[in-house]
Amino acid sequence: MDKLIISGGGPISGEIRISGSKNSALPILASTLLTKTPMCIGNLPHLNDVTTMLALLRSMGLSVTLNEKMRVEVDANTIKEYTAPYDLVKTMRASILVLGPMLARFGEANVSFPGGCAIGSRPVDIHLRGLEAMGAIIDVDEGYIRAKCDGKLKGAHFFMDIVTVGGTENLLMAAVLAEGKTVLENAAREPEIVDLANCLCAMGAKIEGIGTDTLVIEGVDELTGCQYDVMPDRIETGTYLVAAAATRGQIKLKDTRADILESVLLKLEAAGAHITSGEDWVALDMKGKRPKAVSLKTAPYPAFPTDMQAQFTAMNAVAEGVGTVIETIFENRLIQIHELNRMGADIKLEGNTAIITGVDRLKAAPVMATDLRASASLVIAALVADGDTIVDRIYHIDRGYECIEEKMQQLGANIKRVPS
Ligand code: UD1
Repeated sequence: MDKLIISGGGPISGEIRISGSKNSALPILASTLLTKTPMCIGNLPHLNDVTTMLALLRSMGLSVTLNEKMRVEVDANTIKEYTAPYDLVKTMRASILVLGPMLARFGEANVSFPGGCAIGSRPVDIHLRGLEAMGAIIDVDEGYIRAKCDGKLKGAHFFMDIVTVGGTENLLMAAVLAEGKTVLENAAREPEIVDLANCLCAMGAKIEGIGTDTLVIEGVDELTGCQYDVMPDRIETGTYLVAAAATRGQIKLKDTRADILESVLLKLEAAGAHITSGEDWVALDMKGKRPKAVSLKTAPYPAFPTDMQAQFTAMNAVAEGVGTVIETIFENRLIQIHELNRMGADIKLEGNTAIITGVDRLKAAPVMATDLRASASLVIAALVADGDTIVDRIYHIDRGYECIEEKMQQLGANIKRVPS
């Protein structure tokens, strides 16, 4: 297992390119199951989760050809197995995203039941209830979700009790090939869902209300493969912006978008950052100043994203003043604060609220990544710590950040990867 060694130092500064969105790439790759004609998907990030999704499609018999530019051609016509096996699902919960499209196109799907993970219990009850409302018969047997339908799925009117990103994506992909009209209410509105919906429309799907909490889908008989580039990764963008803010730096991020990051950019401005942006870039300049503490509460889009909470907690740890961070999406997602406190941070945890009193500088310590975004927060903390911080278990980082050490080095950070 690799580790990162990071020597805290001055500000990070410079220019880097932002990769394609992981959370957009995963459902879009799953959507290739919906069509008989090959799909070509570009701007894929080179990440372990993307590799796992491609391995999953291959394991089902799909023909998957990836070129060196991370553009993939997927032909779902060669499918042999309607099963997502335990070995792959256990490494990536998003494997559940093949359930809806497989059931809609082939009338059968077996997906290993995803368990909980470090950040929470993460049930999939809404995915299953929505598919049942569309006529699926679902059993859970020997740890597998076994879903079938008689003929085609039927359009349904379904209200989602909780706003769920994966649930909305699964049901949207099922509904595009269902018979008749489906209405998904209280749907998630994350930009990645808009990206998936745009891709489905490019394949011939009929979807209204894209970007709102009510999606109206008129099922079609079949979809046609198309060429589609996934959107930029807003969480990677936000992570580098926060790293620059915490280190009092100056940064320009290319091939990304500001319009999908509004709640994050507003908090960075409240922290004292000067933000500028153009059509495909965002820049941040702290003018050498220490960030001011900010308070925030996570909630579904367009509110503040849970995937950016840990990074802001790390910035608050070295900010001026006291910030409060409330996590409302996942029950155990403030877990990284214990590692930050080992580095000299002053963070108190009260239920789902972290109260962070900024200190001047953190101190290096060996720390351990517990999940993807928590690991990013440890990298940020290490950049503003005196001494060499060793971040262990970085396989979490490799699931979501493409070439993090190369990009950080390009920004002047002193960071290297070492095998354990
Ligand atoms: C997606 C993102 C993840 C992000 C999260 C919230 C991907 C691959 N992952 O995860 O990075 O942190 O959205 O923005 O896109 N829930 C239920 N029942 C369900 C489904 C969800 O109770 O059937 C709960 C979850 O436990 C959680 C909340 O709803 O508390 C939101 O989860 P959800 O939006 O589904 O997250 P994911 O799609 O797994």
